[in-house]
Amino acid sequence: MSRRVLHCFLCLGIIYLKTGGFSRVLALGASLICSRIPGLAPRQRVICQSRPDAIIVIGEGAQMGIRECQFQFKHGRWNCSALGDRTVFGKELRVGSKEAAFMYAILAAGVAHAITAACTQGNLSECSCDRGKQGFYAQANGWKWGGCSADLHYGLGFSRVFMDAREIKHSSRRLMNLHNNEVGRKVLERNMRLECKCHGVSGSCSSRTCWTTLPKFRELGFILKDMYSKAVQVEPVKATRHKRPTFLKIKRAHSYRKPTDTDLVYIEESPNYCEVDPVSGSAGTQGRICNRTLPHHPHGCELMCCGRGYNTHQYSRLWQCHCKFSWCCSVRCNTCSERTELHTCK
Ligand SMILES: *[C@@H]1O[C@H](CO)[C@@H](O)[C@H](O)[C@H]1NC(C)=O
Ligand SMILES: *[C@@H]1O[C@H](CO)[C@@H](O)[C@H](O)[C@H]1NC(C)=O
Ligand SMILES: *[C@@H]1O[C@H](CO)[C@@H](O)[C@H](O)[C@H]1NC(C)=O
Repeated sequence: MSRRVLHCFLCLGIIYLKTGGFSRVLALGASLICSRIPGLAPRQRVICQSRPDAIIVIGEGAQMGIRECQFQFKHGRWNCSALGDRTVFGKELRVGSKEAAFMYAILAAGVAHAITAACTQGNLSECSCDRGKQGFYAQANGWKWGGCSADLHYGLGFSRVFMDAREIKHSSRRLMNLHNNEVGRKVLERNMRLECKCHGVSGSCSSRTCWTTLPKFRELGFILKDMYSKAVQVEPVKATRHKRPTFLKIKRAHSYRKPTDTDLVYIEESPNYCEVDPVSGSAGTQGRICNRTLPHHPHGCELMCCGRGYNTHQYSRLWQCHCKFSWCCSVRCNTCSERTELHTCK
């Protein structure tokens, strides 16, 4: 769709831009469009103007990241929501918490994934399949590179240039965000797949061609969720001459270890996300659906509602049941009903 849309935009000056769940028809040029996309840093607007085809894919990558975040945290008090303005990256958590660490990593991975997929499908003008992997023999393994290998290098590079351009203030949060962006991209890089096809008489597999493909984004979501639960707290270290924080170290007495690229890092302890708090980015849990019969589960009403109690909503559910097929050709059903309860936090 993006190609067609852009074509239309170039010819008529109309683009139907879909970002963050809202759609708008804008009858504007590229620079105006880029200036109206919410939440872009100045450097990102410049990139947007020079690569308007990529900006749509970036929006899709960010959406994929946000949806995955919501899936992974659907049972948590923090469900991936934040307060504040809507941006192309959703509502951003502009704090130093573990949750922000996860958000940054999954968005950076989402953008790299989407750009790489768009390259492979021929949707972007500046990239396609990985040329370095076409027609060459992988000497050690006895097969030949063939097909269309995903150009991950391009996708990662694009994500690095674009997503890292968000960080404009020299602060310890900048170091944290840049680190977590890279963790997200590394997770993608480490989970690339190799697919192969056999050649030879009647499937004898006397030779093989192989190519790299992207992993399912869901897999990356689970891996990052696991990293989130093991995230490490860090603190900034300032080089003596400048006042600026120059790198991060793990916050532990007598430790001078820097975090590695498999550590999601955070600076501040998380709030409990019970109440609305604009400072920590907590949207609170009022109105969240909870499960009354799960006492010690995060989704149970006790924990979800933080002891405030819950409201009970009763409704009846109707559906077709006991269906019988009679010759020929009709189906008769009864209507069954059930009273159901739904609980939401006070
Ligand atoms: C590539 O473009 C096609 C057709 O315009 C679209 O259906 C597909 O989703 C796009 N793929 C990616 C990864 O953006
Ligand atoms: C997440 O929680 C907020 C605040 O309680 C709620 O408004 C929002 O609908 C929830 N989002 C999802 C995706 O469940
Ligand atoms: C609550 O949890 C129980 C046990 O896991 C499950 O059977 C039930 O469907 C859940 N109820 C709701 C409303 O999600």
